[in-house]
Amino acid sequence: MMFTKIRWRLLLSYLAVFTSILVIFAAGVRLLFARSLTQQLTDRLTTLGQGAATNADFENGRIKVESDFIARPFIHKNQGLQWFDVNGNSVLKQGNFVLNLPLSMSQDPIKIEIGKSRIQAVILPIMGSEQRQLIGYIRVSQSLEEVDETLTKLDWILGSSIIIALILSGFSGVILTRQAVQPIEESFQRLKQFTADASHELRNPLMAIKSNAAVALKYPENMRESDVEKFQAIVSAANQMTRLTEDLLLLARGETNGDRPEASVNLSATLSNLLSLYQPEAHAKKIDLKSEIGEDMYLLGNVGQLTRLFANLIENALHYTLSGGTVEVTANLVRCYLTVSVRDTGTGIAPEHLKLVFERFWRADESRSYWEGGSGLGLAIAKNIAQNHGGSITLNSQVGVGSCFTVRLLSVKVSDNLQG
Ligand SMILES: Nc1ncnc2c1ncn2[C@@H]1O[C@H](COP(=O)(O)OP(=O)(O)O)[C@@H](O)[C@H]1O
Ligand SMILES: [Mg+2]
Repeated sequence: MMFTKIRWRLLLSYLAVFTSILVIFAAGVRLLFARSLTQQLTDRLTTLGQGAATNADFENGRIKVESDFIARPFIHKNQGLQWFDVNGNSVLKQGNFVLNLPLSMSQDPIKIEIGKSRIQAVILPIMGSEQRQLIGYIRVSQSLEEVDETLTKLDWILGSSIIIALILSGFSGVILTRQAVQPIEESFQRLKQFTADASHELRNPLMAIKSNAAVALKYPENMRESDVEKFQAIVSAANQMTRLTEDLLLLARGETNGDRPEASVNLSATLSNLLSLYQPEAHAKKIDLKSEIGEDMYLLGNVGQLTRLFANLIENALHYTLSGGTVEVTANLVRCYLTVSVRDTGTGIAPEHLKLVFERFWRADESRSYWEGGSGLGLAIAKNIAQNHGGSITLNSQVGVGSCFTVRLLSVKVSDNLQG
Protein backbone atom coordinates (compact mmCIF):
# COMPACT_ATOMS: atom_id res chain seq x y z
CA MET A 1 0.00 0.00 0.00
CA MET A 2 1.03 3.52 -0.74
CA PHE A 3 0.65 4.70 2.84
CA THR A 4 2.70 1.88 4.27
CA LYS A 5 5.55 3.12 2.13
CA ILE A 6 5.09 6.71 3.29
CA ARG A 7 4.96 5.55 6.89
CA TRP A 8 8.18 3.61 6.54
CA ARG A 9 9.92 6.51 4.88
CA LEU A 10 8.76 8.84 7.62
CA LEU A 11 9.93 6.45 10.31
CA LEU A 12 13.31 5.90 8.67
CA SER A 13 14.02 9.59 8.23
CA TYR A 14 12.96 10.23 11.82
CA LEU A 15 15.31 7.52 13.04
CA ALA A 16 18.13 8.77 10.81
CA VAL A 17 17.86 12.28 12.24
CA PHE A 18 17.62 10.97 15.78
CA THR A 19 20.61 8.65 15.30
CA SER A 20 22.79 11.43 13.97
CA ILE A 21 21.88 13.69 16.90
CA LEU A 22 22.71 10.91 19.37
CA VAL A 23 25.98 10.04 17.67
CA ILE A 24 27.12 13.67 17.51
CA PHE A 25 26.19 14.11 21.16
CA ALA A 26 28.00 10.94 22.24
CA ALA A 27 31.09 11.85 20.22
CA GLY A 28 31.15 15.27 21.91
CA VAL A 29 30.84 13.75 25.37
CA ARG A 30 33.60 11.27 24.65
CA LEU A 31 35.92 13.93 23.29
CA LEU A 32 35.46 16.19 26.30
CA PHE A 33 35.85 13.29 28.70
CA ALA A 34 39.02 11.99 27.04
CA ARG A 35 40.49 15.47 27.03
CA SER A 36 39.84 16.07 30.69
CA LEU A 37 41.25 12.64 31.57
CA THR A 38 44.54 13.32 29.78
CA GLN A 39 44.64 16.80 31.24
CA GLN A 40 44.30 15.33 34.73
CA LEU A 41 47.06 12.86 33.97
CA THR A 42 49.34 15.61 32.69
CA ASP A 43 48.72 17.61 35.86
CA ARG A 44 49.54 14.61 38.01
CA LEU A 45 52.74 13.90 36.07
CA THR A 46 53.77 17.54 36.29
CA THR A 47 53.28 17.58 40.07
CA LEU A 48 55.27 14.38 40.41
CA GLY A 49 57.98 15.76 38.16
CA GLN A 50 58.22 19.02 40.09
CA GLY A 51 58.56 17.05 43.33
CA ALA A 52 61.29 14.92 41.82
CA ALA A 53 63.10 17.94 40.38
CA THR A 54 63.59 19.49 43.84
CA ASN A 55 65.47 16.37 44.85
CA ALA A 56 68.16 16.86 42.26
CA ASP A 57 71.13 19.16 42.70
CA PHE A 58 74.38 20.20 41.13
CA GLU A 59 77.61 18.79 42.49
CA ASN A 60 81.00 19.23 40.88
CA GLY A 61 79.49 20.21 37.57
CA ARG A 62 77.25 17.16 37.54
CA ILE A 63 73.63 16.57 38.35
CA LYS A 64 73.04 14.43 41.42
CA VAL A 65 69.78 12.99 42.65
CA GLU A 66 69.29 12.63 46.39
CA SER A 67 69.11 9.02 47.25
CA ASP A 68 66.33 9.22 49.81
CA PHE A 69 63.90 10.28 47.13
CA ILE A 70 64.73 7.21 45.15
CA ALA A 71 63.98 5.01 48.10
CA ARG A 72 60.55 6.48 48.67
CA PRO A 73 57.70 4.39 47.25
CA PHE A 74 56.51 7.49 45.53
CA ILE A 75 56.09 6.09 42.13
CA HIS A 76 52.96 4.37 41.11
CA LYS A 77 53.40 0.99 39.46
CA ASN A 78 52.55 2.29 35.98
CA GLN A 79 54.72 5.38 36.21
CA GLY A 80 58.32 6.04 35.39
CA LEU A 81 60.88 8.78 36.15
CA GLN A 82 64.09 9.54 34.32
CA TRP A 83 66.68 12.23 35.05
CA PHE A 84 68.90 13.73 32.37
CA ASP A 85 71.81 16.11 32.45
CA VAL A 86 71.85 19.27 30.33
CA ASN A 87 73.23 17.35 27.36
CA GLY A 88 70.37 14.89 27.39
CA ASN A 89 72.34 11.95 28.83
CA SER A 90 70.34 9.73 31.12
CA VAL A 91 71.50 9.94 34.71
CA LEU A 92 68.99 7.83 36.59
CA LYS A 93 65.87 5.77 35.98
CA GLN A 94 63.10 4.85 38.33
CA GLY A 95 59.81 2.92 38.02
CA ASN A 96 58.30 0.45 35.55
CA PHE A 97 57.35 2.73 32.75
CA VAL A 98 60.56 4.46 31.80
CA LEU A 99 60.82 5.26 28.11
CA ASN A 100 63.81 3.81 26.35
CA LEU A 101 64.06 6.83 24.15
CA PRO A 102 66.50 9.71 23.88
CA LEU A 103 65.35 12.99 25.34
CA SER A 104 63.43 15.15 22.94
CA MET A 105 62.40 18.53 24.14
CA SER A 106 58.79 19.48 24.04
CA GLN A 107 56.57 21.79 25.99
CA ASP A 108 53.50 19.63 25.49
CA PRO A 109 52.92 16.20 26.95
CA ILE A 110 54.13 13.49 24.57
CA LYS A 111 52.11 10.43 23.68
CA ILE A 112 53.97 7.36 22.50
CA GLU A 113 52.84 3.87 21.60
CA ILE A 114 55.16 1.07 22.55
CA GLY A 115 53.87 -2.35 21.68
CA LYS A 116 50.39 -2.59 23.09
CA SER A 117 50.67 0.08 25.74
CA ARG A 118 50.35 3.76 25.16
CA ILE A 119 52.49 6.00 27.28
CA GLN A 120 52.22 9.66 28.08
CA ALA A 121 55.27 11.63 29.15
CA VAL A 122 55.99 15.13 30.46
CA ILE A 123 59.44 16.72 30.36
CA LEU A 124 60.39 19.39 32.90
CA PRO A 125 63.61 21.39 33.29
CA ILE A 126 65.48 21.10 36.58
CA MET A 127 66.82 24.34 38.04
CA GLY A 128 69.71 24.35 40.47
CA SER A 129 68.85 25.56 43.96
CA GLU A 130 71.75 28.06 44.21
CA GLN A 131 72.24 30.00 41.01
CA ARG A 132 68.88 29.13 39.41
CA GLN A 133 70.62 27.78 36.37
CA LEU A 134 69.47 24.83 34.28
CA ILE A 135 71.11 21.67 35.53
CA GLY A 136 69.14 18.98 33.69
CA TYR A 137 65.78 17.57 32.77
CA ILE A 138 63.34 15.15 34.21
CA ARG A 139 60.98 13.02 32.22
CA VAL A 140 57.92 11.63 33.95
CA SER A 141 55.92 9.00 32.13
CA GLN A 142 52.86 6.93 32.79
CA SER A 143 51.08 4.24 30.88
CA LEU A 144 47.66 5.29 29.61
CA GLU A 145 46.17 1.93 30.56
CA GLU A 146 43.88 3.36 33.22
CA VAL A 147 42.72 6.15 30.96
CA ASP A 148 42.05 3.69 28.17
CA GLU A 149 40.10 1.42 30.49
CA THR A 150 37.92 4.30 31.61
CA LEU A 151 37.35 5.35 28.01
CA THR A 152 36.43 1.81 26.96
CA LYS A 153 33.89 1.71 29.76
CA LEU A 154 32.54 5.05 28.63
CA ASP A 155 32.28 3.78 25.05
CA TRP A 156 30.26 0.79 26.19
CA ILE A 157 27.93 2.96 28.23
CA LEU A 158 27.46 5.46 25.41
CA GLY A 159 27.01 2.73 22.79
CA SER A 160 24.43 0.80 24.75
CA SER A 161 22.53 3.96 25.67
CA ILE A 162 22.38 4.89 21.99
CA ILE A 163 21.04 1.44 21.10
CA ILE A 164 18.45 1.52 23.89
CA ALA A 165 17.41 5.05 22.92
CA LEU A 166 17.06 3.97 19.29
CA ILE A 167 14.96 0.94 20.15
CA LEU A 168 12.66 3.04 22.33
CA SER A 169 12.38 5.81 19.77
CA GLY A 170 11.78 3.18 17.07
CA PHE A 171 8.74 1.95 18.98
CA SER A 172 7.44 5.42 19.64
CA GLY A 173 8.23 6.35 16.03
CA VAL A 174 6.01 3.53 14.75
CA ILE A 175 3.13 4.81 16.88
CA LEU A 176 3.74 8.45 16.02
CA THR A 177 4.01 7.92 12.27
CA ARG A 178 0.87 5.81 12.32
CA GLN A 179 -0.93 8.62 14.07
CA ALA A 180 0.46 11.19 11.67
CA VAL A 181 -0.45 9.28 8.52
CA GLN A 182 -3.87 8.04 9.62
CA PRO A 183 -5.87 11.24 8.99
CA ILE A 184 -4.24 11.64 5.58
CA GLU A 185 -5.02 8.04 4.75
CA GLU A 186 -8.63 8.47 5.82
CA SER A 187 -9.19 11.60 3.79
CA PHE A 188 -7.50 9.92 0.85
CA GLN A 189 -9.90 6.99 1.14
CA ARG A 190 -12.84 9.38 1.36
CA LEU A 191 -11.67 11.20 -1.74
CA LYS A 192 -11.35 7.95 -3.62
CA GLN A 193 -14.74 6.80 -2.45
CA PHE A 194 -16.14 10.14 -3.57
CA THR A 195 -14.60 9.78 -7.03
CA ALA A 196 -15.97 6.28 -7.33
CA ASP A 197 -19.44 7.31 -6.17
CA ALA A 198 -19.54 10.40 -8.35
CA SER A 199 -18.53 8.55 -11.49
CA HIS A 200 -20.98 5.82 -10.66
CA GLU A 201 -23.80 8.31 -10.20
CA LEU A 202 -22.97 10.00 -13.49
CA ARG A 203 -23.61 6.81 -15.41
CA ASN A 204 -27.40 6.93 -15.37
CA PRO A 205 -27.89 10.55 -16.50
CA LEU A 206 -25.31 9.96 -19.21
CA MET A 207 -27.19 6.90 -20.37
CA ALA A 208 -30.37 8.98 -20.46
CA ILE A 209 -28.72 11.69 -22.55
CA LYS A 210 -27.26 9.15 -24.94
CA SER A 211 -30.41 7.13 -25.43
CA ASN A 212 -32.63 10.18 -25.83
CA ALA A 213 -30.33 11.71 -28.40
CA ALA A 214 -30.13 8.38 -30.17
CA VAL A 215 -33.90 8.11 -30.28
CA ALA A 216 -34.17 11.63 -31.66
CA LEU A 217 -31.59 10.81 -34.34
CA LYS A 218 -33.60 7.76 -35.39
CA TYR A 219 -36.12 10.05 -37.05
CA PRO A 220 -34.01 12.79 -38.60
CA GLU A 221 -36.82 13.75 -40.97
CA ASN A 222 -38.69 15.27 -38.00
CA MET A 223 -35.97 17.84 -37.24
CA ARG A 224 -34.28 20.71 -38.90
CA GLU A 225 -31.05 19.76 -40.65
CA SER A 226 -28.88 21.89 -38.36
CA ASP A 227 -30.34 20.10 -35.33
CA VAL A 228 -29.14 16.72 -36.56
CA GLU A 229 -25.56 17.85 -36.23
CA LYS A 230 -26.18 19.17 -32.75
CA PHE A 231 -27.68 15.86 -31.67
CA GLN A 232 -24.74 14.00 -33.13
CA ALA A 233 -22.42 16.24 -31.14
CA ILE A 234 -24.44 15.45 -28.02
CA VAL A 235 -24.13 11.70 -28.60
CA SER A 236 -20.41 11.94 -29.22
CA ALA A 237 -19.80 14.09 -26.15
CA ALA A 238 -21.91 11.77 -24.03
CA ASN A 239 -19.86 8.82 -25.28
CA GLN A 240 -16.61 10.51 -24.36
CA MET A 241 -17.95 11.39 -20.95
CA THR A 242 -19.04 7.83 -20.36
CA ARG A 243 -15.56 6.71 -21.12
CA LEU A 244 -14.09 9.32 -18.81
CA THR A 245 -16.33 8.34 -15.90
CA GLU A 246 -15.50 4.70 -16.49
CA ASP A 247 -11.81 5.54 -16.41
CA LEU A 248 -12.22 7.43 -13.17
CA LEU A 249 -14.22 4.61 -11.65
CA LEU A 250 -11.59 2.10 -12.71
CA LEU A 251 -8.82 4.20 -11.17
CA ALA A 252 -10.70 4.83 -7.94
CA ARG A 253 -11.60 1.16 -7.57
CA GLY A 254 -8.30 -0.16 -8.77
CA GLU A 255 -6.52 1.45 -5.87
CA THR A 256 -8.95 0.56 -3.14
CA ASN A 257 -9.19 -3.19 -3.34
CA GLY A 258 -7.16 -4.07 -6.39
CA ASP A 259 -9.62 -6.86 -7.27
CA ARG A 260 -7.18 -9.69 -6.88
CA PRO A 261 -6.77 -11.03 -10.41
CA GLU A 262 -7.07 -14.77 -10.37
CA ALA A 263 -8.07 -16.24 -13.73
CA SER A 264 -5.36 -17.48 -16.05
CA VAL A 265 -5.07 -15.36 -19.16
CA ASN A 266 -3.60 -16.31 -22.51
CA LEU A 267 -1.61 -13.18 -23.22
CA SER A 268 -0.60 -14.28 -26.73
CA ALA A 269 -4.24 -14.54 -27.77
CA THR A 270 -5.22 -11.32 -26.02
CA LEU A 271 -2.49 -9.36 -27.79
CA SER A 272 -3.23 -10.89 -31.19
CA ASN A 273 -6.90 -9.98 -30.85
CA LEU A 274 -6.04 -6.44 -29.88
CA LEU A 275 -3.67 -6.06 -32.81
CA SER A 276 -6.23 -7.16 -35.35
CA LEU A 277 -8.67 -4.73 -33.73
CA TYR A 278 -6.30 -1.80 -34.29
CA GLN A 279 -5.08 -2.85 -37.72
CA PRO A 280 -7.79 -0.86 -39.59
CA GLU A 281 -6.98 2.32 -37.66
CA ALA A 282 -3.27 1.87 -38.37
CA HIS A 283 -4.03 1.25 -42.01
CA ALA A 284 -6.12 4.41 -42.20
CA LYS A 285 -3.29 6.44 -40.68
CA LYS A 286 -0.74 4.74 -42.95
CA ILE A 287 1.15 3.40 -39.97
CA ASP A 288 2.88 0.05 -40.16
CA LEU A 289 1.57 -1.93 -37.18
CA LYS A 290 3.87 -4.90 -36.71
CA SER A 291 4.04 -7.56 -34.05
CA GLU A 292 6.22 -10.33 -32.79
CA ILE A 293 4.39 -12.28 -30.16
CA GLY A 294 5.59 -15.45 -28.54
CA GLU A 295 3.21 -18.38 -28.31
CA ASP A 296 1.35 -19.75 -25.31
CA MET A 297 2.20 -17.11 -22.79
CA TYR A 298 0.04 -17.30 -19.71
CA LEU A 299 -0.34 -15.27 -16.60
CA LEU A 300 -2.74 -14.90 -13.71
CA GLY A 301 -4.89 -11.85 -14.13
CA ASN A 302 -7.99 -10.12 -15.26
CA VAL A 303 -8.51 -10.31 -19.05
CA GLY A 304 -10.54 -7.12 -19.20
CA GLN A 305 -7.94 -5.11 -17.33
CA LEU A 306 -5.00 -6.53 -19.25
CA THR A 307 -6.73 -5.83 -22.55
CA ARG A 308 -7.31 -2.30 -21.36
CA LEU A 309 -3.66 -1.89 -20.40
CA PHE A 310 -2.30 -2.89 -23.81
CA ALA A 311 -5.09 -1.12 -25.68
CA ASN A 312 -4.10 2.13 -23.98
CA LEU A 313 -0.46 1.67 -24.97
CA ILE A 314 -1.25 0.77 -28.58
CA GLU A 315 -3.76 3.62 -28.86
CA ASN A 316 -1.16 6.09 -27.67
CA ALA A 317 1.46 4.71 -30.01
CA LEU A 318 -0.89 5.03 -32.98
CA HIS A 319 -2.05 8.43 -31.86
CA TYR A 320 1.33 10.02 -31.27
CA THR A 321 2.93 8.64 -34.43
CA LEU A 322 2.68 10.43 -37.76
CA SER A 323 1.61 8.60 -40.87
CA GLY A 324 4.43 6.65 -42.46
CA GLY A 325 5.71 5.62 -39.03
CA THR A 326 5.93 2.24 -37.42
CA VAL A 327 4.41 0.74 -34.29
CA GLU A 328 5.78 -2.56 -33.13
CA VAL A 329 4.42 -4.79 -30.41
CA THR A 330 6.70 -7.53 -29.13
CA ALA A 331 6.02 -10.01 -26.38
CA ASN A 332 8.25 -12.71 -25.07
CA LEU A 333 8.93 -14.86 -22.08
CA VAL A 334 12.27 -14.42 -20.34
CA ARG A 335 12.65 -16.89 -17.52
CA CYS A 336 9.45 -16.37 -15.57
CA TYR A 337 8.76 -12.83 -16.74
CA LEU A 338 6.54 -11.81 -19.61
CA THR A 339 7.85 -8.73 -21.29
CA VAL A 340 5.58 -6.83 -23.62
CA SER A 341 6.87 -3.74 -25.33
CA VAL A 342 5.08 -1.26 -27.53
CA ARG A 343 7.55 0.71 -29.60
CA ASP A 344 6.70 3.58 -31.90
CA THR A 345 8.54 5.98 -34.18
CA GLY A 346 6.43 8.87 -32.99
CA THR A 347 6.91 12.30 -31.49
CA GLY A 348 8.66 11.01 -28.42
CA ILE A 349 8.53 12.44 -24.90
CA ALA A 350 10.88 15.07 -23.50
CA PRO A 351 13.16 13.79 -20.70
CA GLU A 352 11.60 16.14 -18.14
CA HIS A 353 8.18 14.70 -18.94
CA LEU A 354 9.09 11.03 -18.62
CA LYS A 355 7.98 10.88 -15.00
CA LEU A 356 4.83 12.90 -15.60
CA VAL A 357 3.19 10.86 -18.33
CA PHE A 358 1.85 8.36 -15.79
CA GLU A 359 0.20 11.12 -13.76
CA ARG A 360 -3.55 11.49 -14.00
CA PHE A 361 -4.78 14.07 -16.46
CA TRP A 362 -1.26 14.94 -17.51
CA ARG A 363 -0.85 15.57 -21.24
CA ALA A 364 2.23 16.99 -22.95
CA ASP A 365 0.17 19.25 -25.11
CA GLU A 366 -2.40 21.01 -22.96
CA SER A 367 -3.74 22.91 -25.93
CA ARG A 368 -4.92 19.76 -27.66
CA SER A 369 -8.64 19.46 -27.66
CA TYR A 370 -9.96 17.39 -24.83
CA TRP A 371 -11.17 14.60 -27.02
CA GLU A 372 -8.12 14.29 -29.16
CA GLY A 373 -6.43 11.12 -28.04
CA GLY A 374 -8.00 10.95 -24.63
CA SER A 375 -8.28 12.60 -21.30
CA GLY A 376 -4.79 12.02 -19.96
CA LEU A 377 -5.91 9.06 -17.86
CA GLY A 378 -4.77 6.33 -20.23
CA LEU A 379 -1.28 5.80 -18.87
CA ALA A 380 -2.36 6.29 -15.26
CA ILE A 381 -4.78 3.42 -15.78
CA ALA A 382 -2.16 1.33 -17.58
CA LYS A 383 0.26 1.73 -14.70
CA ASN A 384 -2.42 0.97 -12.19
CA ILE A 385 -3.38 -2.25 -13.92
CA ALA A 386 0.25 -3.34 -14.27
CA GLN A 387 0.80 -2.76 -10.54
CA ASN A 388 -2.43 -4.53 -9.69
CA HIS A 389 -0.98 -7.55 -11.42
CA GLY A 390 2.26 -7.30 -9.49
CA GLY A 391 4.04 -6.02 -12.60
CA SER A 392 5.69 -2.83 -13.67
CA ILE A 393 5.69 -0.50 -16.62
CA THR A 394 8.72 1.43 -17.82
CA LEU A 395 9.29 3.97 -20.50
CA ASN A 396 12.12 4.85 -22.85
CA SER A 397 11.72 7.77 -25.15
CA GLN A 398 13.58 10.26 -27.26
CA VAL A 399 12.03 13.34 -28.77
CA GLY A 400 11.71 12.98 -32.54
CA VAL A 401 12.84 9.35 -32.49
CA GLY A 402 10.08 7.51 -30.71
CA SER A 403 8.96 5.88 -27.51
CA CYS A 404 9.01 2.40 -26.08
CA PHE A 405 6.73 1.34 -23.24
CA THR A 406 7.69 -1.95 -21.61
CA VAL A 407 5.42 -3.95 -19.34
CA ARG A 408 6.83 -6.73 -17.22
CA LEU A 409 4.50 -9.29 -15.69
CA LEU A 410 5.01 -12.49 -13.79
CA SER A 411 4.06 -15.48 -15.91
CA VAL A 412 2.60 -18.82 -14.87
CA LYS A 413 3.55 -22.12 -16.45
CA VAL A 414 1.14 -23.67 -18.92
CA SER A 415 1.00 -26.85 -16.88
CA ASP A 416 -0.21 -24.86 -13.83
CA ASN A 417 -2.82 -23.37 -16.05
CA LEU A 418 -4.03 -26.73 -17.32
CA GLN A 419 -4.26 -28.14 -13.83
CA GLY A 420 -6.11 -25.11 -12.56
N1 LIG B 1 3.58 6.79 -27.48
C1 LIG B 1 3.66 8.08 -27.09
N2 LIG B 1 4.43 8.97 -27.78
C2 LIG B 1 4.51 10.25 -27.38
N3 LIG B 1 3.87 10.77 -26.35
C3 LIG B 1 3.08 9.96 -25.62
C4 LIG B 1 2.95 8.58 -25.94
N4 LIG B 1 2.12 8.01 -25.05
C5 LIG B 1 1.75 8.99 -24.21
N5 LIG B 1 2.33 10.16 -24.54
C6 LIG B 1 2.20 11.44 -23.82
O1 LIG B 1 1.70 11.16 -22.53
C7 LIG B 1 0.46 11.84 -22.32
C8 LIG B 1 -0.44 11.00 -21.44
O2 LIG B 1 -0.86 9.85 -22.11
P1 LIG B 1 -2.24 9.21 -21.71
O3 LIG B 1 -2.25 9.02 -20.25
O4 LIG B 1 -2.51 8.02 -22.56
O5 LIG B 1 -3.25 10.37 -22.04
P2 LIG B 1 -3.90 10.78 -23.42
O6 LIG B 1 -3.48 9.77 -24.43
O7 LIG B 1 -5.31 10.75 -23.10
O8 LIG B 1 -3.38 12.15 -23.69
C9 LIG B 1 -0.08 12.10 -23.67
O9 LIG B 1 -0.90 13.23 -23.69
C10 LIG B 1 1.18 12.34 -24.49
O10 LIG B 1 1.62 13.67 -24.32
MG1 LIG C 1 -3.87 7.77 -24.24
